[in-house]
Amino acid sequence: MNEKYRPLFEPLSFRSGVELSNRLVMAPLTNYSSNEDGTVSDAELRYYSRRSTGVGMVLTACINVTENGQGFPGEFAGYSDDFIPSLQRLANAIKEQGAKAVLQIFHAGRMAPPDLVSDIVSASAVPDPDTIPVTPRALEESEVEEIIKAFGETTRRAIEAGFDGVEIHGANTYLIQQFFSGFTNRREDRWGGSFEKRLAFPLAVVEEVQNTVKQYADHPFLVGYRLSPEEEYPEGITMDDTLGLIDALTAKELDYLHISQQDFWTKPHRGGELDRTRIEQIYDRTKGKTELIGIGSLYTADQVLAAKNTGIPLVALGRGIIIEPDWVEKLKEGKEDEIYTTLLPTAERKQELEIPNPLWNMITTIPGWFPLEK
Ligand SMILES: Cc1cc2nc3c(=O)[nH]c(=O)nc-3n(C[C@H](O)[C@H](O)[C@H](O)COP(=O)(O)O)c2cc1C
Repeated sequence: MNEKYRPLFEPLSFRSGVELSNRLVMAPLTNYSSNEDGTVSDAELRYYSRRSTGVGMVLTACINVTENGQGFPGEFAGYSDDFIPSLQRLANAIKEQGAKAVLQIFHAGRMAPPDLVSDIVSASAVPDPDTIPVTPRALEESEVEEIIKAFGETTRRAIEAGFDGVEIHGANTYLIQQFFSGFTNRREDRWGGSFEKRLAFPLAVVEEVQNTVKQYADHPFLVGYRLSPEEEYPEGITMDDTLGLIDALTAKELDYLHISQQDFWTKPHRGGELDRTRIEQIYDRTKGKTELIGIGSLYTADQVLAAKNTGIPLVALGRGIIIEPDWVEKLKEGKEDEIYTTLLPTAERKQELEIPNPLWNMITTIPGWFPLEK
């Protein structure tokens, strides 16, 4: 290995006691390929296994904690104990290759596709005409509490299935973010209104998940939280809101916070310090208190090293690890120049990369999403 990459290969211990062999993480990546009954398919197991040999930790695709929380076709589920054997197969496929296995748990809220979910719910009845043209139903207070409990129940299933942790998906405009955002949360009860009240749902989910871990986990089990900084809607989340959320989550003593961004180096649009990257400002707040994962359009070894050199403890690869499952091994063996950073869309490559058909079809047909070779 080229010595300059050594900082990427230092081990890390989370406060829960979960230990990682290095600082590289596979991002949560939905692959649209589960069986029709919501169980994990063999193609998914091969896809995960192929990507679990080098990174310290694999974050799985998001899974829905209630039936109407589904966000995608072919998403594997976790809303009933019947799914525990399926989740167990996934945890084993990842852990057998050496990585820690962390299940990402979520509820899509108003982003649930109408052809998959008939009862689309959210914090408030605010539609998103750009993506899903259905006005969601505002949740009753009792239903809000049921969903919080469902996050706990899915965490218990993750523990029973042998995962090393859960990541609470509070990012990418799904239900948890819908409660935090003043644009999608217009409630006037204890779950909305002031900034503190908009924090109530995310924090209640965190507490429920942490209490579940205390009650059921007999091995080190981590709890992480993913969030998106800022929203583009006029009344949506600003960088100042994000920093407030970061402080509230940091006080909860989570194992890590994970900042979901398309570009690691993005600066704030509204609030915070406009001339410094969001991730550096967030790192200032979390340093020494909780671990932090950064991500966003990092493909080459030097791009990942530059991100790590900001001081953040962990760097995640999304599209990069779909395109190049051997990313970490190549770097370790001093072959960083052989890391693929673009995808050659041929049948041989698809097979070699173990990319399931539904994911492959999307990658190769949605323009501009993945860096494709002509
Ligand atoms: C195919 C695909 C599926 C994704 N699925 C999820 C998901 O299930 N949960 C999530 O939090 N983010 C998801 N994302 C976002 C990624 O985790 C990541 O934040 C984003 O792709 C930017 O990182 P990258 O530039 O390294 O790809 C997905 C992204 C892609 C490309």
